[in-house]
Amino acid sequence: MTDAQRRPLLQIIVASTRPGRVGEPIARWFGDYAREYEAFDVEIVDLADVALPMFAEPEHPRFARYTLDSTKAFSATIARADAFAIVFPEYNHSYNAALKNALDHLNQEWARKPVALVSYGGVAAGARAAEALIPVLVGLQMVVAGTVPIPFAGQRVSGEGEARTFEPAPETEAGAKAALDGLGSWLEILGLRGAR
Ligand SMILES: Cc1cc2nc3c(=O)[nH]c(=O)nc-3n(C[C@H](O)[C@H](O)[C@H](O)COP(=O)(O)O)c2cc1C
Repeated sequence: MTDAQRRPLLQIIVASTRPGRVGEPIARWFGDYAREYEAFDVEIVDLADVALPMFAEPEHPRFARYTLDSTKAFSATIARADAFAIVFPEYNHSYNAALKNALDHLNQEWARKPVALVSYGGVAAGARAAEALIPVLVGLQMVVAGTVPIPFAGQRVSGEGEARTFEPAPETEAGAKAALDGLGSWLEILGLRGAR
């Protein structure tokens, strides 16, 4: 397959790292939905598996002079993405600390790539977390291509363990489609479709 034929790689970042997180089945649903959309190659990047230490690099990440194997591995993972969907919870009216730690670890690996924000929580659907996250993404020169706010997400997860499934409301599914449309549009605008 030539570069021109290659689909853009969409990475779905699972931001919550706690046992029993609802973020994991939500991310699996979004991944399945994105695969059926058929415009992207899809990869799940689970921050619980990545298991970064609290940021401990001596230099600013923009220089990419990483000293830790964990940072080097995470850099290689994020560098290969063309676009992202970040699936993240609202914790204390903001987004979760593991996500900030992951974002802070890198710099150019995130830059100039479109991102969809799949937020969730209680009645506020993670909207406050999304509003807090957007300036951070701007600082990393990322482009927000869409938002998918999911209210009372935990009530839509059923089953046990790895068999848990997330059942989206019709408006959530419509939001996912709009977000994927937005990612595709931004990839065209940024001139990246199939080019990297
Ligand atoms: C530390 C903590 C703080 C929370 N703060 C909020 C909050 O401010 N707003 C909200 O809507 N839900 C809040 N919640 C509820 C979470 O959104 C809900 O538990 C969700 O399932 C967490 O995502 P996770 O299961 O993927 O970790 C909080 C949960 C935790 C654990």
